[in-house]
Amino acid sequence: MSEEYKVTPWEVTGEVDYEKLIREFGVSPLTDDLVSRFRKIFGELPSEISRKLFYAHRDFDVILDKVESGKKIYLYTGRGPSGPMHIGHLFPFVFTKKLQTMLNTELFIQITSDEKFLYHRNIGREEIFEYTIDNIKDILALGFDYKNTYIIDDLRAIQYLYQIAVSVAKRVTFSTAKAVFGFTHDTNIGMIFFMSIQAAPSFIGYFINDKYEGCLIPAAIDQDPYWRVTRDIATKIKLPKPAQIHGKLLPGLKKGIKMSASIPETSIYLSDSPEAVKKKIWEAYTGGQPTIELQRKYGGDPDKCVVFSYFKFLFEDSDDKLRERYEACKSGELTCGECKRELIDRINKFLEEHRRRKEKITDEYIEKYLINNKVDLENHIRQYKLLR
Ligand code: TYM
Repeated sequence: MSEEYKVTPWEVTGEVDYEKLIREFGVSPLTDDLVSRFRKIFGELPSEISRKLFYAHRDFDVILDKVESGKKIYLYTGRGPSGPMHIGHLFPFVFTKKLQTMLNTELFIQITSDEKFLYHRNIGREEIFEYTIDNIKDILALGFDYKNTYIIDDLRAIQYLYQIAVSVAKRVTFSTAKAVFGFTHDTNIGMIFFMSIQAAPSFIGYFINDKYEGCLIPAAIDQDPYWRVTRDIATKIKLPKPAQIHGKLLPGLKKGIKMSASIPETSIYLSDSPEAVKKKIWEAYTGGQPTIELQRKYGGDPDKCVVFSYFKFLFEDSDDKLRERYEACKSGELTCGECKRELIDRINKFLEEHRRRKEKITDEYIEKYLINNKVDLENHIRQYKLLR
């Protein structure tokens, strides 16, 4: 990977060159042709696709073929509960919710409590348990329906994944894991095995409902290394290769500093107060000129502006209005101050509403989504008798 930026499942730094990343990861771009097919099949386009925020894929064309010929596919996505969620973490879930409605299908959400315990030296069990509940509440506040959504919390539901995980682990050598994930002799052995746990939900649907003929994973592109290995193993265990649709990462608020849990000013957390949002956005990096006079004269650069990217990712539903904002910035008609004020207002309205919905999600309500309560374990394990 290039020097200027780094994208791994655990760390994203620098300014990501997304076109280059397509080549480096060996994924395919989401072409205009695929976008048109999507529109034709579903009759509409989610903004994440029309704006190419979900911009690359593996076998998304195969998924569209299957959907077109009436075959059933399920969705799989996830979250690692290492801290409170920021707005970037929510983004793939917002898109997943739209896909779930369009496909009218089941969704498996993996909460990798084990991964975060293994990866972070300084995070203990207690914090992981706390963040697991808190993050699940943030995710469910988006309105997923318990009737077709399963939550798999690894530390509490490993028995549902383990049959698949051992079949995957048996076929991944240490040299492959090292090459794909950059593991070293200092990596703990839990992390080396963990990839087979993240692979497991890519196949679980087939053992819960035999109507499924494919799995689609919406996530940001940082998770791709997992899928590269998972897809190779699929062939070996004679199950369909999971397909992916890859999103871009919402950039951090400060230039050159990644969105980081240890530097709270770099992102908007779902728990941020209105004052905190105001301060963070006010100090955010923009594509504007240093003075209003220069802005009016030369215009700004929305392509380089973090404030604009927040509108583009989550805070402007209308493609037309987004385009108007883009043009008004470029022509100098719109100033950074005006743009920031509007963004602060939209984020705070969104967060207020989000927290209102989150408050209603009780610990008991979460139980309805847990795979432990939805799928009988004994029967489930019997389904694996033919798995190699
Ligand atoms: P995690 O918790 O790091 O991230 C959760 C989801 O958010 C995406 N993401 C972002 N999207 C937009 N902007 C950002 N700045 C940003 N940062 C992270 C991630 O790609 C992910 O989609 N190991 C995983 C948990 C997991 C998973 C999965 C994720 C298990 N199975 C299947 C996706 C799909 C993790 O720690 O995600």
